[in-house]
Amino acid sequence: MHFLVFLALFSSSKSSFQPFSGPLDNASTRRTVGAYKLSPQEYSVNETLVDWVTKNTFPGISKQLMTEHTDLYRGYVKNANALLANMANSSIDTPMKLELGRRFGFEANGIHMHELFFSNLHPSPAPPSNNFLKIISDEFGSYRAFLDRIRIIGGTRGIGWVTLTLDKSLNRLILNWVSEHQDGQSIGDVILAVDCWEHAYIRDYKSTARGDYLQNLVKIIDWEVVEKRLKAAM
Ligand SMILES: *[C@@H]1O[C@H](CO)[C@@H](O)[C@H](O)[C@H]1NC(C)=O
Ligand SMILES: *[C@@H]1O[C@H](CO)[C@@H](O)[C@H](O)[C@H]1NC(C)=O
Ligand SMILES: *[C@@H]1O[C@H](CO)[C@@H](O)[C@H](O)[C@H]1NC(C)=O
Ligand SMILES: [Fe+2]
Repeated sequence: MHFLVFLALFSSSKSSFQPFSGPLDNASTRRTVGAYKLSPQEYSVNETLVDWVTKNTFPGISKQLMTEHTDLYRGYVKNANALLANMANSSIDTPMKLELGRRFGFEANGIHMHELFFSNLHPSPAPPSNNFLKIISDEFGSYRAFLDRIRIIGGTRGIGWVTLTLDKSLNRLILNWVSEHQDGQSIGDVILAVDCWEHAYIRDYKSTARGDYLQNLVKIIDWEVVEKRLKAAM
């Protein structure tokens, strides 16, 4: 993704192009230098997070739905690890077998997006801070308009996610739709993820009532977590 940011900036501002110095450089330097020190791991289920999200009661979402939801999350971990093994196996070289690797973005982003989603929920969240409200209002007009926009983007037909990301190339917060888990991932760090797959609401709401789900969902977003992620991303 960093490479794409680089390309995008390079092609859009050739005349005034200046090499990066800053966070992106740091990341690529770390990768090159650290290549000899990597200690590869597999994905693992964050049991602390699963415990927390299944034991709490979130208004508008049943415990049964949440448990099923975390079971799906476990599936993404299992499948992403299976695909890592597939990619690491040099005797897998036929197009048919290699094709499996194309599913990796689906499974791995399924993990990350669910971890972001579960941990940006709160059973009884505090309202957003004044600082965060100011940032939101500057970008989206008002907090109300921002929530409406989440619901409208999320209510569009098709499965996926509403994400709020910080695009550092613009210094702006962007609301974006990600289809499934991988198509349309925004440039930038995801600071809020809202699950709009059918499994996220269909046990508790009618299949046609995604709007009602989203109406309730925006009431259980932990803005403190979102704001912390924003600060960490800046
Ligand atoms: C990133 O790089 C800049 C200089 O390019 C340096 O000042 C800063 O300390 C670095 N940050 C980290 C976290 O390595
Ligand atoms: C697991 O989730 C908890 C709660 O969100 C978080 O504090 C912790 O850092 C996570 N652990 C890992 C290994 O990511
Ligand atoms: C690699 O793939 C081959 C062919 O599918 C299989 O026979 C072998 O067990 C795999 N090796 C590992 C380490 O998974
Ligand atoms: Fe989900």
